[in-house]
Formats: sequence, C-alpha cells, structure tokens
Amino acid sequence: MRVSFTLNGTVTQAEVPPGTTLMELLRGLGAVSVKDGCARGDCGSCAVLLDGRAVTACLLFAGQVEGRQVRTAEGLADEVGLHPLQQAVLDAGGVQCGFCTPGILMAAVDLLDRIPDPTEAQIREGLAGNLCRCTGYVKIVDGIRDAAAMLAATGRTTDGEEAGDG
Ligand code: FES
Ligand code: FES
Repeated sequence: MRVSFTLNGTVTQAEVPPGTTLMELLRGLGAVSVKDGCARGDCGSCAVLLDGRAVTACLLFAGQVEGRQVRTAEGLADEVGLHPLQQAVLDAGGVQCGFCTPGILMAAVDLLDRIPDPTEAQIREGLAGNLCRCTGYVKIVDGIRDAAAMLAATGRTTDGEEAGDG
C-alpha cells in the first residue's frame, strides 16, 4: 500500500506492506530517533507528534498517517543548532544512554504546546507514558522546566515561532 504524508515538513511517500506500523514506516525512512523499545505501547520510546499531538508510533498503522503531519525528533534541531528542549535536557544532565530521549522530547513538545508554563506535576504527568531506565526523571523534568522558562523568556514556541503567531 502507498502512504503519503508530511514528515518533518517534507511531503513524503512510501510503499509499505499492509500491517506495517508507523514506527516501522518511520524507521524505514531513516527517522531512527523513533526507538523500538517494546512495540506494544508500554515505553514511549517511539513517541512522535501526529498533527501536533504525541502518539506511540508502534500502536498505529502506517496507513493512519495518510495526509497528516508527522514530526519526529529529527525535526527538532535546525541549521542553527539543537532545539531549546534538546539543549535544556542535555544541559540538565537528563540524557544518559539516550534511548528514551527522542520519545521524551516529543512528549515534552506536546506538553509545552498545550501548557507553556507547566508545574513539575504537569511535566511528570506529561511524561507518564515515557519510561527512562537511567536518569530517575529528576534531571529530565528539570530540563523541560528550563526549556519552558527559556522559551517564555525569548517569546518563542516549540516550533521556533514567536508566541502568539498561531
Ligand atoms: S516501542 Fe512504542 S511504546 Fe514502546
Ligand atoms: S537515558 Fe537511558 S533510558 Fe533514559
């Protein structure tokens, strides 16, 4: 079957066998930030944004993204450098093995788009579907809070747009 969708801003088409998951589709297209941690919706390491909301790519079929917008961690950094969320989580010491990091970043983008100034409890709730076996979450939460403060201070959204641009 043929799937046509937008991946990190680029119109993308792929031919996949029926039953292919979104995780398999994205990894096959080179978006290897989408990690196969459990393939059954338990770990969040495959989280991506589908039309701006975090979803577990292992639980969706490739055909479900037809005509839709998908964003992976590959779409966070730009030519200038790391996305503020990536930099803040890194600076806070929230990356050890890094396996969970892309999924956590995408869950955090979803969170900050909905709640630009989240409390610690809201950050932890936003990460409830993401398992990290290394850091104990404290530094990850610190990094997300730092990123929220930095975005607010610079008046930017997670897309790099000026807040209020829509
Ligand atoms: S690989 Fe999708 S939730 Fe674990
Ligand atoms: S940094 Fe290793 S699983 Fe999170």
